[in-house]
Order: sequence, then structure tokens, then C-alpha cells
Amino acid sequence: MATNSSPLSVSLLSSLLLILLAILSSGSLTISSHGFSIREATVAELQLAFKQNRLTSRKLVEFYLGEIQRLNPVLRGAIEVNPDALRLADKADIERKVKAPRSLHGLHGIPVLVKDNIATKDNKMNTTSGSFALLGSIVPRNAFVVTKLINAGAIILGKASLSEWANFRGLAPNGWCARSGQGKNPYVLSADPCGSSSGSAISVAANMAAVTLGTETDGSILCPSSYNSVVGIKPTVGLTSRDGVIPISPKQDTVGPICRTVADAVYVLDAIVGFDRNDAATREASKYIPHGGYKQFLKPYGLNKKRLGIVRNPFVVNGSVVTKVFEHHIQTMRQRGAVVVDNLKIANIDDILNFSASGELVTLLAEFKVSLNSYLKGLVASPVRSLADVIAFNNKFSKLEKIKEYGQILFEAAQVTEGIDSDVKEAYSNLAKLSRNGLEKLMREKKLDAVVTPRSNFATVLAIGGYPGINVPAGYDSNGVPFGICFGGLKGTEPNLIEIAYGFEQATKIRKPPSFKP
Ligand SMILES: *[C@@H]1O[C@H](CO)[C@@H](O)[C@H](O)[C@H]1NC(C)=O
Ligand SMILES: *[C@@H]1O[C@H](CO)[C@@H](O)[C@H](O)[C@H]1NC(C)=O
Ligand SMILES: *[C@@H]1O[C@H](CO)[C@@H](O)[C@H](O)[C@H]1NC(C)=O
Repeated sequence: MATNSSPLSVSLLSSLLLILLAILSSGSLTISSHGFSIREATVAELQLAFKQNRLTSRKLVEFYLGEIQRLNPVLRGAIEVNPDALRLADKADIERKVKAPRSLHGLHGIPVLVKDNIATKDNKMNTTSGSFALLGSIVPRNAFVVTKLINAGAIILGKASLSEWANFRGLAPNGWCARSGQGKNPYVLSADPCGSSSGSAISVAANMAAVTLGTETDGSILCPSSYNSVVGIKPTVGLTSRDGVIPISPKQDTVGPICRTVADAVYVLDAIVGFDRNDAATREASKYIPHGGYKQFLKPYGLNKKRLGIVRNPFVVNGSVVTKVFEHHIQTMRQRGAVVVDNLKIANIDDILNFSASGELVTLLAEFKVSLNSYLKGLVASPVRSLADVIAFNNKFSKLEKIKEYGQILFEAAQVTEGIDSDVKEAYSNLAKLSRNGLEKLMREKKLDAVVTPRSNFATVLAIGGYPGINVPAGYDSNGVPFGICFGGLKGTEPNLIEIAYGFEQATKIRKPPSFKP
């Protein structure tokens, strides 16, 4: 869940931040060995440097651990680092030296930070969704996507912070969780980092990791990616397994990469997609995975001949800086051969964007209770075994968890639901109808490859239908706060969306590293 709630008042911290700023901007760790610059390096560049013996995984992990140590006290993008990271880096370096088959995989020796609602079992890290309630819980196994990352050679560097409970607890600001405090936007520290995959977006934007994983139920990959000037892929629901991911909604939850470039995100996507017998949705969705994976769609001229729909109402607001830049980008897309179909409408858009009118809130509350209870029961050990336990925990430790300030209104509303009853079923059917008559109809009638919108406000349209979307950096507002552009499409159309997103990124190259403005 992503919301655009206003950031915490930071008056107390602001003077402290000014002092820390000097430290932040004084980083001199850019150059590692043999003149290779790790900062902003892509996965392909890192792999090339490995191959040319200009870089080792140890050097790379040391760099990121150093940056986490330096930046995290302010940014709070990481919640834990893996105590085994350096050992795993040494192992990767040996594998590369002896040319072990594993070393040929695309993410071999690449450090990845995964959101703290994604289970890690192979080491000493916790999986808590940012909450003290789950500290010390023991997961039965790695999340399927974590196993896939490890099989692809990746090094789990640590866990990324998040809006606590993926923003499904109360009214906490975006990026805040009890365990690690308030995550900060590295471009403008006082700005919203958005959420709930805030730590993933913050950390990868600030070069605290090579690549990261986030999760989305409604906006939680697309929104923080937009606000932190990084690329987020929100895959079709079921393309990536949710096994071992602390759930909100089986209908809407999805796991996806948050990275600095489209290509990096695609390498991660290739590693994590696939059928998992522990997540039924992956059976249906695995038919979408193209033979040879998604890399083949990284075409520099991917915009050529693509039909792109523009839905202005209510996504494009007249007169804003963001809109001015957006109009300019539309011209660029035309120049790159895209056919832009403007002034389109999505039927019942006001209902789709209204949580209560659409039925989305009803389904999320009911699904959350059922699926969280099931997740908690499946843990090997845990201080809490049900949503009721978590609510009681929060009440007991209200000072620690800022319960009084932020409350747990969503938890409480979920607790009184009674499973997937007739109201929920009616809501499902309404949501399906809204998608069928909305995005599905528009895209088929106008033969669109994608709908293009500024920022991440289109996330709800994509969320309720299980549709994919990609955020690409698009600009910076007058205060220097980043914003993205979102390419959304129908289920399984990741190949098209990747061509479009990569074509756009190559034509514009908007991303720049963060400046840590106060
Ligand atoms: C996991 O939590 C325990 C407390 O239960 C803590 O001692 C440990 O350091 C945590 N692990 C990491 C990697 O931070
Ligand atoms: C926004 O601007 C366009 C012209 O650029 C105009 O046609 C449209 O009516 C405006 N919309 C609103 C709500 O002012
Ligand atoms: C959302 O829908 C409800 C009816 O379900 C309505 O009462 C409310 O005014 C709507 N909110 C907005 C912002 O349109």
C-alpha cells in the first residue's frame, strides 16, 4: 500500500541533519580498485569488471557495507545487514576464480537488499515487516524469490526498511517503521520517500546496494520508485511467487525489482519469475514468461511503433512542473516512433480510484486477516501467532511502536472481518467489472501497448486488476524532488512494457545520483 501522507515533522532533527549533511556529501569511496567506479555501476558493468579482474565481490560488498554504515544513520533505508555477506562474497570470488558453473549466472556475486517483509532463512537475519512484534520469529524457509536470487548467484546483503507492515497498519508516515525509524528521501531529506518499499528505493538510489526487491499491493513499488528516481517493475500478479512474503492480499500482492536502471531491474526480474508449487497464482501466470527471459526486450529503440495511451483525467494536472515535463516526454516518445493516442478515458475511473466505492478496501481487509493469520501460523517460532496477537502486542508496547500517534486502524478494521464472505465476493465481482470495462476495454479498443501516466497515481488501476507497471525516472520538481513516469499494461505484457520503458530511459537518461538536500 502506498499513500501520499505528509512526512513527519522533522524540526527537532533538522539541525542535526545539517551537520550530518556535511558527512553525507563528503563520500570519497567512489573508486574501488583499478580505477573502477562502483557508484552508479550497472549489473552489466559490475559483471564486466569481475570478468576483467578489476573488481571482486568482496570489494563490492565492502563498498556497500561502508555506504550503509555512512548513510544509513540518516537515510534509514536498511534495517539489517547480513552478518554473512563478506563470507558469501569470498565464496563468490572463489567460484569465479575456479569457473564454477554457478559463476555464469546473471546475478553471480551481486549484492541485493530485500524488503523486510520477504523471508530470509539461510542466515542470521530477521523477517519482521519493520515491526518488533515479529522480531525473533523463525521462518520455515527462504521466500521463493530469495531462493531464486541465491540460485542466480546473488549475495543477500541485508534487509531493506519499509513503511511498517507494508503500510497496512495505521496512519504512520511513508517510510516509517518501529524497528528502524523514519526512512528519508535521499534527494531532499525533508521530502516524502513514499512507500511501502521505501527502504528498497532509498537504498538503491543512494548506492547502498547494487539492486533491491520490493513488494506491491497498491503502489508500493511504483510510488517509492517515482519519489526516489529509480526504476521499479511491478510484475503481473503471480509472475513472481509470494511464498514467504508477509501478505496483505493474494489477489494483489506481487514482488518486483527496484533498481537504478531498467536493464538492472530486468536482470533481477529474470532471476525471480517462475512457477512455485507453494503459490497457486504462479501456475497461471508462468505461461506469460517468454522463452529466453526478459533481457531480449532491452531494445534501445523499443518505443518505435508502440501505441501509447494518455488518460488525462485525473492523472495529468494542468499547470504543474510535472505536467510540463510529461508533455515534453510525450514529444520525445513521438520522435522515437511511438503512436500517442491522447485524451483517452477509463470508464468509472472515479469509482476505481475510490477504495470504498470500488470494493478494494473490503477485499484487502478480509484477505489481510486470513492470509496474515495463515503466514503467522506457518512460522517455526514467533512471539505472535495471529492478527489478534499483533494488535495486542502493539497495545502493550504502545510507546515503542508509536501506537497512540499512528494507531492501528487498518489492523482493527481487518480484525472484525469474517473471512471471504458474500460482501467480499460481491466486492471481487465489482472490481473485476471495473477492470473489464475500464483498462481492459480501453486497451483492446484502442489497441494500446501501454497507458502512460506521470508519477504513480495509476497504481490503483493496475492493482485491482493484477496488471503490471514500470516506473522510470522522469524528472525533478522545483525543489529537486524526483518524479517518475509509469507505463502500465494488461496481464503478461511485461515484454512490451520493458521495450517501452527501456526505449524511454535510453532516450531521456533522467536519473542522477542523490544530492542529500535538507
Ligand atoms: C535479528 O534479531 C535479533 C534479536 O532477536 C538480533 O539479535 C539480531 O542481531 C538480528 N539480526 C540482524 C542481522 O540484525
Ligand atoms: C488543460 O489544458 C488543456 C490544454 O493544454 C485544455 O484543453 C484543458 O481543458 C485543460 N483542462 C483543465 C481541467 O483546465
Ligand atoms: C467514495 O465512495 C463513497 C461511496 O462508497 C462516497 O461516499 C465517497 O464520497 C467517495 N469519495 C470520493 C472522494 O469520491
